[in-house]
This record gives sequence, structure tokens and C-alpha cells, in this order.
Amino acid sequence: MIKRKLQPGPLVAATHNAGKVRELKDLFEPAGLVVRSAIELGLDEPEETEMTFTGNALLKARAAAIATGEPALSDDSGLSVTALGGQPGIYSARWAGEPRDFGRAMEKVQAALNDIGAEDRSAKFVCALAVVWPDGEEVVFEGEVHGTLVWPPRGDRGFGYDPMFVATGKSVTFGEMDPAKKHGMSHRADAFKKLRAALLP
Ligand code: IMP
Repeated sequence: MIKRKLQPGPLVAATHNAGKVRELKDLFEPAGLVVRSAIELGLDEPEETEMTFTGNALLKARAAAIATGEPALSDDSGLSVTALGGQPGIYSARWAGEPRDFGRAMEKVQAALNDIGAEDRSAKFVCALAVVWPDGEEVVFEGEVHGTLVWPPRGDRGFGYDPMFVATGKSVTFGEMDPAKKHGMSHRADAFKKLRAALLP
């Protein structure tokens, strides 16, 4: 178990995804951390060459900690669909093509489910949160939220695959949900709870 704590002060959010930056600021700023994103700092986006959420989260946080000399936090996350053997998984952003179009990514998921006549529409969002200090110490926490995929997509309050994801026990999609509510129950919130217990004073 890591003994070191994240002290109030600068924390680099090693992501270029504006939706994630918003959620990470909501989660960390109440703990006295001053979150600046890779977008604000003009950092390069490293290529995600690892095969797991944890591996890619570490790779992004390491690059940001080295570039800035400050503690860095990164989130690697995605949608894992049971009937698709966990796809799109670590390729969740890449399924949206370039430039990113998540309407298209959601259509691809729906088409893949149709192709195999899937009755099982269960899925989960997975999040790995990595913290890397500039001296090389590092730690990762994983979180999940389980649910079902709906079609057509509903709501424009979230990002990514939110409009087609309904968390277990809820009736609205993450795209329709009040963002504060989503941030309280998401895969990122689950990983963050573990991080908070271990790293925040
Ligand atoms: P990456 O972690 O930057 O590789 O991107 C992960 C991708 O997974 C994002 O671009 C989103 O499409 C998707 N994703 C991750 N978290 C969420 C979420 O909370 N809601 C919807 N989509 C998400």
C-alpha cells in the first residue's frame, strides 16, 4: 500500500478530453488540488500503445509528469460490451474515428450487436486512474459501473458513449442524467473513491 499522499497544490490532468477534464476538476479541486490539463499546458498526447486501461493510464501520466516536473494524473477509460467480448474497450476513443464522432462510434456498437443478433445488451464503463510523481513513484486505481445499452441514444449532457448507457437501477441514460449525479456513480467516481482513500490527506 502506498504511504505517500497527494498534497494540496498543482496536479496535471494528463488528458486532451474536455469531458474528462471537467469530471477530474470536479473530483479533485475540492481536495485543494489545482488541476491543469494537458490541453491548457500544451502537452503532446502520447500514443496509447499498451493493451490494458491500466497500462495506458500509466503511460499518459508518466509522460505528463516527466514533461512538467509535477505530479500527474491520468484516466484511461472506455466502454466494455459483454456480447462483443469487451469491445470497444481500450479502443473506445478510436472507434469514433478522426475527427472524433461518437454518434458514429455508438452506431458501430449498435451495428456490431445487430450483426450477432445479441440479446445480451449488458456493458460496463471501466476507468483506470493513474498518479505518477516526477520522481517516478506511481500508483493505479480501477473502477467500474455496470449497465445496459439502449438504442437510439438519448441526451446531450455527457460525452462519448453516455447517450446509450443506462446504469443498473436507473431509467435515464448518462447523457440525460444530471452531471453531478453521474459524477457520483460513474466508473471514474468508483476509481476516485479508492484513490481518495489511499492518496488524499
Ligand atoms: P481514452 O481513455 O482517452 O482512450 O478514451 C476513452 C473513451 O472512452 C472516451 O473517448 C469515451 O468515448 C469513452 N468513455 C470513457 N469514459 C466515458 C464516460 O464517462 N462516458 C462516456 N464515454 C466514456
